[in-house]
Amino acid sequence: MAERLIGLMSGTSLDGVDGVLALVEGDGRLTVHHHASRPFEPALRAELLALNTPGPDELHRAALAANGVARAYAQVVHQLLQDAGLGPGAVAALGAHGQTVRHQPLAVDGVGYTVQLLNAPLLAELAGIPVVADLRSRDLAAGGQGAPLVPPFHRAQFGQPDATLAVLNLGGISNLSVLPPDGSPAAVLGFDCGPGNALLDLWCQRHRGQPYDADGAWAAGGRVQAPLLAALRAEPYFVLPPPKSTGRDLFHAGWLDRHLAGFPGLAPADVQATLAALTAGVCVDDVRRHAPGAARLVVCGGGALNGDLMRRLQAGLPALRVESSAALGLPPQQVEAAAFAWLAWRRLQGLPGSLASVTGARGERVLGALHAA
Ligand SMILES: Nc1ncnc2c1ncn2[C@@H]1O[C@H](COP(=O)(O)OP(=O)(O)O)[C@@H](O)[C@H]1O
Ligand SMILES: [Mg+2]
Repeated sequence: MAERLIGLMSGTSLDGVDGVLALVEGDGRLTVHHHASRPFEPALRAELLALNTPGPDELHRAALAANGVARAYAQVVHQLLQDAGLGPGAVAALGAHGQTVRHQPLAVDGVGYTVQLLNAPLLAELAGIPVVADLRSRDLAAGGQGAPLVPPFHRAQFGQPDATLAVLNLGGISNLSVLPPDGSPAAVLGFDCGPGNALLDLWCQRHRGQPYDADGAWAAGGRVQAPLLAALRAEPYFVLPPPKSTGRDLFHAGWLDRHLAGFPGLAPADVQATLAALTAGVCVDDVRRHAPGAARLVVCGGGALNGDLMRRLQAGLPALRVESSAALGLPPQQVEAAAFAWLAWRRLQGLPGSLASVTGARGERVLGALHAA
């Protein structure tokens, strides 16, 4: 029987909350019916960004921020219900990611932690809908990275019967899924490549006072600085073998500034061009290395709307067709939220949500804590 689910995602870009209201069939096929998004209030955004870095009175501040995230998510839920003309009882569950403020997958003795701020009980109260939250922790407990969680959804939604498909999500961080054809003994691969929009956004905010470089036009007008690019590319994370995952814990303003200190006086537009070349180049190398059989690269996340990044990807992968996920029926801004609706559906069915071949966990696990309406 088909069920309605809502997926809610707020990623490392910290641009706000994306939500979808989706119908999931008994076999797991998902169709998005409504999409809503809402930026974070500036004060909440600033606090969430600050909480990515150790600071004073963190427990109290994190708890209050988690309440703020729940309220922001609830507003998106109300918008979706209004758009659909439905009451809360029509939705089986919300799959809610929360806002990552720490991701330390292998912190101590091989068992790490990941922190997504969200007061899930408050969201259940405000929405009147059951909430599936904390979707990453169980995979970490089983020895995995807890990330990325989207590859099994990419497989279910985009997988091809007769061809290997590569799917690249360009959120704040970039992550790649490699989906072998149906029936292939090869395992699905998935891992975080490196910075997605995070560094581009940061530099654009600092020098232009805009949240992001629309269509990558500013980057497109700059000149890539090869010595700076080489220094940035020397980051050891880029050549670590999967499974691997990362976040603002590594790719933050301090990381960028440390590298830039060796290259004083560069024009800001040239730095932006170099960051675009870094972002795309790391993904290009990962596709070449890990998806040699793929003929198509499907791009999702807000970065798919950055024409400059898309052109750099296509230039680096001339043998592949680089295209937006819209070509496969799901607009790029909806894919991650749809993945969390699908993961909530898996949780309700008692089915595993993770892939051990992706996260490196001891096995596949049922993900998420369920809070009744
Ligand atoms: N029109 C656009 N041109 C360039 N970049 C865009 C555009 N629209 C969105 N983006 C980028 O996408 C980001 C949001 O992408 P998203 O997939 O929501 O990331 P996250 O999952 O990290 O929140 C923005 O911060 C911005 O960098
Ligand atoms: Mg976002």
